[in-house]
Amino acid sequence: MIDIKNITKSFGSLQVLKGIDLHIDRGEVVSIVGPSGAGKTTLLQIIGTLDRPDSGTVCVDGIDVTSLSQKKLSDFRNQHLGFVFQFHQLLPEFTAIENIMIPAYIAGTSQRQAKQRAKELLDFMGLTDRATHKPNELSGGEKQRVAVARALVNNPAVILADEPSGSLDTKNKEELHQLFFDLRDKFGQTFVIVTHDEALASITDRNIHLRDGLIETPIIPQETCLDSETTTPSE
Ligand SMILES: Nc1ncnc2c1ncn2[C@@H]1O[C@H](COP(=O)(O)OP(=O)(O)O)[C@@H](O)[C@H]1O
Ligand SMILES: [Mg+2]
Repeated sequence: MIDIKNITKSFGSLQVLKGIDLHIDRGEVVSIVGPSGAGKTTLLQIIGTLDRPDSGTVCVDGIDVTSLSQKKLSDFRNQHLGFVFQFHQLLPEFTAIENIMIPAYIAGTSQRQAKQRAKELLDFMGLTDRATHKPNELSGGEKQRVAVARALVNNPAVILADEPSGSLDTKNKEELHQLFFDLRDKFGQTFVIVTHDEALASITDRNIHLRDGLIETPIIPQETCLDSETTTPSE
């Protein structure tokens, strides 16, 4: 599902990633952990095609994303990836359901279908009665669940989350974490979650420890995009 080979990334003279090898299976929920400044966000952004590595290859959902043009990358992100950030980043002037529908519009989905899908997701999240509320009328936990629904609206293969529960209280944290596993079980998504939260890290399928620009005990990918034509990219 995700195959990373020998990724390096520097900002000026600071080499943040020093040769990362990583393989993540479809349907895995993995956490990326490590000290602040270790390069967790940088790695997640590279997996999410929001940043490019200086060298190395990144394959996501059977596609070598390091070779895509900017235009193809934005289509790829819209169709294959969902993002959840620490602070929900919902658009304040739109309602919950509208925020969820926006990526579907960008993908060219009809309004009827986008609304239908957004309603299903709101229902799944237990937020049906919050559909027409704007973000400032929602609690922190509700906002974050709307953000997760927005990430899911195009049914992406991979959800990337950067400290998703970092701004939530314990109860909302636990609910959000459970939601990730429920979603994986229901929709089969792959989750890559950067977290400081030990409770979350302890329940993920695998912890990826990042330290000094390298992964402790890396699993080196066996295949590259080039010989993974049998992989069927999701719709
Ligand atoms: N765009 C950037 N320009 C310069 N330095 C950056 C940039 N992004 C990250 N860094 C630096 O790279 C290092 C790793 O950052 P980051 O990936 O955000 O770490 P983490 O998420 O593990 O805390 C930090 O020292 C940070 O200051
Ligand atoms: Mg970070």
